[in-house]
Amino acid sequence: MNRRDVLQGLSIAAAGAISAPSVLAQVVPAPAGRSGRQSQKGMSARDAVVLVTGSNRGIGLGFVKALLERGAARVYATARREKDLPALRAIDPERVRPLVLDINEPDQRAAAATAASDVNWLINNAGVAGSRDERSRILAAPDLEDAKWVMQTNCWSPAELCRLFAPVIKANGGGAISNVLSVGAWFCVPSATSYSMSKAAAAMMTAGVRAELDRDPILVSGIYTAGVATRMSGEQGMDPLVHGHQVLDAVALGETEIIAGTGAERLRDEVRSDPKAVERERIERLYAPDA
Ligand SMILES: NC(=O)c1ccc[n+]([C@@H]2O[C@H](COP(=O)([O-])OP(=O)(O)OC[C@H]3O[C@@H](n4cnc5c(N)ncnc54)[C@H](OP(=O)(O)O)[C@@H]3O)[C@@H](O)[C@H]2O)c1
Repeated sequence: MNRRDVLQGLSIAAAGAISAPSVLAQVVPAPAGRSGRQSQKGMSARDAVVLVTGSNRGIGLGFVKALLERGAARVYATARREKDLPALRAIDPERVRPLVLDINEPDQRAAAATAASDVNWLINNAGVAGSRDERSRILAAPDLEDAKWVMQTNCWSPAELCRLFAPVIKANGGGAISNVLSVGAWFCVPSATSYSMSKAAAAMMTAGVRAELDRDPILVSGIYTAGVATRMSGEQGMDPLVHGHQVLDAVALGETEIIAGTGAERLRDEVRSDPKAVERERIERLYAPDA
């Protein structure tokens, strides 16, 4: 798009011809059948070589186990602490290659891309919820350090990993990039604005990566997760292994927008039908006495 197109787009928007929900329409997946499936790019876990970030617990560990159950050839199971590696190796000493990877450390990212040069599937899973108190807000926070840390971890570092691994995956004949986002990308949870803004930004980052890889045999998917029983969710919800299999089923079909976990589809329907009602409900929760 040239500068004239951009200006034209902006002036149409300003004139009111583009309604606000068109922004949401970029990232809120349509119901099944209108979901932008790219069947020809569907990626099977069988014989795949996969790198999973944040795989020492929670959803990441669920991915590692699901991939192994489906016959992945090798899984680079990464964690930011050395002490977590032996337990990962013990899952399957033949096929699991544990690696230290703090996704916010540029040297470690580069080292991972070199060590895992046979990868044909990147799963950007590692993420943080933020401080879960006033620091996660914009005005109530003493500064924007929480927002910057959460943006770095949930958006910029996964973007850097996409940049490092897209050429690796291309060189290996194609494959997939799967970015774990959240239903929190669709609306602001104002008690944790830093999380919502990071996931919304990561959703657009994912869409941009998908566009840039449109002509390559690489499926780029955003995973809109909710309600998986991990430390982040207070151990409430779906078993991470079941979530892992849900996502692998969808990637095998070539889905670009994947909805997984407990309650995610219901939320998608609510946001699509009345985004302002969803926003209002979150605002009221912010002011509820026990919030
Ligand atoms: N659980 C849900 O219901 C839910 C819903 C929507 C989206 N998600 C998303 O799912 C993903 C996984 O979350 P989870 O529920 O499994 O949470 P979790 O149990 O808290 O796990 C988070 C993982 O990310 C890792 N991590 C955090 N910062 C990292 C960094 N800088 N470098 C490398 N690894 C890092 C953690 O490693 P350490 O052990 O070293 O901290 C841990 O392995 C996240 O992107 C999250 O936003 C989860």
